[in-house]
Amino acid sequence: MTEPAVEVRDVVKQFPNPGGGIVNAVDHVTLQIRDGEFFSLLGPSGCGKTTTLRMLAGFERPTSGEIYIKGQLMNSTPPYARPVNMVFQNYALFPHMNVFQNVAFGLEMERVSRAEIHRRVEEALALVRMSGMGARRSSQLSGGQQQRIALARALVKRPAVLLLDEPLGALDLKLRKEMQLELKALQQQVGITFVYVTHDQEEALTMSDRIAVMSQGRALQVGPPAEIYERPNCRFVADFIGETNFLQGTLIGIEAGHATVAVTNEDMQVIGLPGGDLHPGQQVTISVRPEKIRLLTEPPYVNVNRFPARVQDVSYIGSDTRVLVRLSPSLTLSVWEQNRISTLDPNAYFTRGQEVWLTWLPENALVLGE
Ligand SMILES: Nc1ncnc2c1ncn2[C@@H]1O[C@H](COP(=O)(O)OP(=O)(O)O)[C@@H](O)[C@H]1O
Ligand SMILES: [Mg+2]
Repeated sequence: MTEPAVEVRDVVKQFPNPGGGIVNAVDHVTLQIRDGEFFSLLGPSGCGKTTTLRMLAGFERPTSGEIYIKGQLMNSTPPYARPVNMVFQNYALFPHMNVFQNVAFGLEMERVSRAEIHRRVEEALALVRMSGMGARRSSQLSGGQQQRIALARALVKRPAVLLLDEPLGALDLKLRKEMQLELKALQQQVGITFVYVTHDQEEALTMSDRIAVMSQGRALQVGPPAEIYERPNCRFVADFIGETNFLQGTLIGIEAGHATVAVTNEDMQVIGLPGGDLHPGQQVTISVRPEKIRLLTEPPYVNVNRFPARVQDVSYIGSDTRVLVRLSPSLTLSVWEQNRISTLDPNAYFTRGQEVWLTWLPENALVLGE
């Protein structure tokens, strides 16, 4: 295997807590990021994403553990001597300089020749689709353009690894979605390893080759988007990525790769896919995504995961109809039906109070031990 671009080995970062004691901002994190990979750190606010990135940049030193970039131990290497560059959420452009000067700044500090600076700045501006804008003042640019210049400024230095801390966070939704695709295309074009921090799960799924889902300083799961969404390894990841229904139960047994679970306080058995090492008698959580449940008006022919229910609420949201169904006084599930046919007929949709049947494939019910 080729050497990872970035390696984080059992890294801990503690900060003194203003109220006394210590905060474990990063708690025994181990990551291997491949050369040329678009790798995201994803998790809720305060989970340790920025602290991890700042340790890669060299702005913070690990309390313990090691950081390697391109095979070199970086723990005591200052930021300017690392082959990395960082892009922040608030672009931090120099307001009194024009676009060209902003992008050239880092190279001028390195005393690169004028001809070389000119060539590289133009190349970086072309990469972010801002050719010919060199004379503009940064105050004359839109938010999206400013973020492009911040990117060009980082790329012009040709770092081995680009670190991005919620770089699209300040943009409105439509522009953010455009920039996500642009940034992903740009990363593929330049081939630089990106380590990208976001709390937006859809953003991470859209852009990343692999994602590390973080919570409370720990990396709970690392994998490609489909694996994170389809095979979360714990309840936190299943809950944080997308939406899901949870059912609590007791594992009865596993046979032919399928787990049978007795749902707690319900007259209901679910057949699902075991996620991890499980043993009979153990308490489990079943996760079923709302788009993976079939809603039928007649009883289905299959005789597993087949439950009668009543429609409690219907929300039409354009692309989908979101149906809340009640299976018992203590159990409701959310089901999403894709609106495949364009119609104004209200009878084409489920209605409140309607009797229905639910069913799902065993593969669509993930049985988790925690
Ligand atoms: N310089 C600091 N001093 C004290 N606590 C800090 C410092 N930086 C971060 N923290 C704490 O460390 C935890 C992780 O913070 P951070 O890495 O910024 O999270 P994220 O970027 O995921 O929102 C939080 O509890 C935060 O309050
Ligand atoms: Mg942060």
